[in-house]
Amino acid sequence: MTTTLITGIGELVSNDAGLGPGPLGLLEQAAVLLDGSRIGWVGPAAAAPAADDRIDVGGRAVVPGFVDAHAHLVFAGDRSAEFAARMAGSAYAAGGIRTTVAATRAATDEELLAGAARLVAEMLRQGTTTVEIKSGYGLTVRDEARSLAVAATLTPETTYLGAHVVAPELADDPARYVDLVCGPMLEACAPYARWVDVFCERGAFDADAARAVLRAGAARGLLPRVHAGQLGPGPGVQLAAEVGAASADHCTHLTGADVAALRDAEVVATLLPGAEFSTRSPYPDARALLAAGVTVAIATDCNPGSSFTSSMPFCLALAVREMRMTPAEAIWSATAGGAASLRRDDVGVLRVGARADLVVLDAPSYVHLAYRPGVPLVRSVIKDGRLLPTMP
Ligand code: NIG
Ligand code: FE
Repeated sequence: MTTTLITGIGELVSNDAGLGPGPLGLLEQAAVLLDGSRIGWVGPAAAAPAADDRIDVGGRAVVPGFVDAHAHLVFAGDRSAEFAARMAGSAYAAGGIRTTVAATRAATDEELLAGAARLVAEMLRQGTTTVEIKSGYGLTVRDEARSLAVAATLTPETTYLGAHVVAPELADDPARYVDLVCGPMLEACAPYARWVDVFCERGAFDADAARAVLRAGAARGLLPRVHAGQLGPGPGVQLAAEVGAASADHCTHLTGADVAALRDAEVVATLLPGAEFSTRSPYPDARALLAAGVTVAIATDCNPGSSFTSSMPFCLALAVREMRMTPAEAIWSATAGGAASLRRDDVGVLRVGARADLVVLDAPSYVHLAYRPGVPLVRSVIKDGRLLPTMP
């Protein structure tokens, strides 16, 4: 196995509190040894071991690869007109999803794969080395299963979201749609999925329907996560706590009892500020969550309707500016927080044995990710120990 020493790291965010101060485990003048696809050593450059190869990053900052724990990448069609209308004053509504459903059903498997792969590549160029991908724009047994089959070729973090909205052809019989989602659709999708998700929201699924979907998924071996409190107050967060979900996502509308439930049940709050940005909505109260000791993740929610950004640096900057997270909290939430949301201990951290997924920034500090919003600071990405070919 070839070893490569990344040296000349001016500032290293390890997220390993054993390596340096604070939750970021910050180290200056650091080095990281890549041993195949894993991290072989991390520490002060002066103490670095010998290696087969060396890459000197010239005093730049290095952070773990971003972990984007919430994305809807398998779809066809374009909703830029809906965005333009929204920016001219229209409201965002869950029903827009059906526009994408029609286009997705009409697309071939090859088209769906090409679209999702393009977005995964776009994410990788921006430093995202782990991404979760949901179904949810097919809403038939065939279209949900092929959406997940596509997702499974791109990531192990695949999520069955048959319960995104009620399929249009069953709009007048939502109970029948829930039976389909909990029965034949689940059977067809489970082989390709790690997670089960539900959009628990007015206009989508109420608490009883959402509970039925999550329980059916869990009985089939899928781990629950929930779209909760995105468009208005509702039962999603409490349901996430009740079923032991890994994550409650959005959390834009939260009560004090919701915050306490997330903390007590150790459910990660995955915040998606790109959605608030793109729907011109108030941002979630990250400070209340952090003050209560809830684990917070930041993700893109990349999807054609409410948040068509693939950029974790953009979402991180929003988290700092709009949700009043500190730059340190935001980089942790975009890396280690995302890993917690996906119950992964091998990503989002640079410690011996973890995956060798890291990002070299064209900046002296991770703080620049929020300080210089919109600037392409990702200079190089290393995933599974390999330097991306398109990068210097
Ligand atoms: O997470 N909330 C539900 N699903 C997506 C929106 C999907 C769409 O508008 O197409 C979200 O924001
Ligand atoms: Fe979403």
